[in-house]
Amino acid sequence: MSSSKRVVLSSDHAAIELRLAVAAHVTSLGWEVVDIGPTTTESTHYPLHGQAAAERVASGDCTLGIILCGTGQGIMMAANKVAGIRCGVCSDTFSARMIRQHNDANMLSLGARVIGEGLALDIVEAFLTATFEGGRHATRVEMIEGPGQA
Ligand code: RB5
Repeated sequence: MSSSKRVVLSSDHAAIELRLAVAAHVTSLGWEVVDIGPTTTESTHYPLHGQAAAERVASGDCTLGIILCGTGQGIMMAANKVAGIRCGVCSDTFSARMIRQHNDANMLSLGARVIGEGLALDIVEAFLTATFEGGRHATRVEMIEGPGQA
């Protein structure tokens, strides 16, 4: 039986070291980690990894996802092309908390060339410990799915 606290992790070559640090931190917070790589620093294509992680979340195999690339931007754009994914890039803890509380984000993206490890781990913790507030925010999140969905 799969855990209800299951996080998929992926990155491109620019963020492997930070991804491994994030994996250890996520585990220490009591979440099961599904790290889908890549495992080498050979140059690769961030859309492949963003989409692969997003599919794990969209399918329900994983509860949340954390993806990383150099800026966090490209891999976030790729993930958000998968239906049902709401992914934000965060470089601060306030935003990481708010994308869960107000936007019901199911994925977080980090830029390994933008922020250091200490801040990245704090951002991850803020994201994982916040919960969606629902109410008026639910109406707005439904609207993200498309016009007339609210
Ligand atoms: C790879 O050099 C870099 O372009 C990628 O990690 C990311 O920053 C793209 O958004």
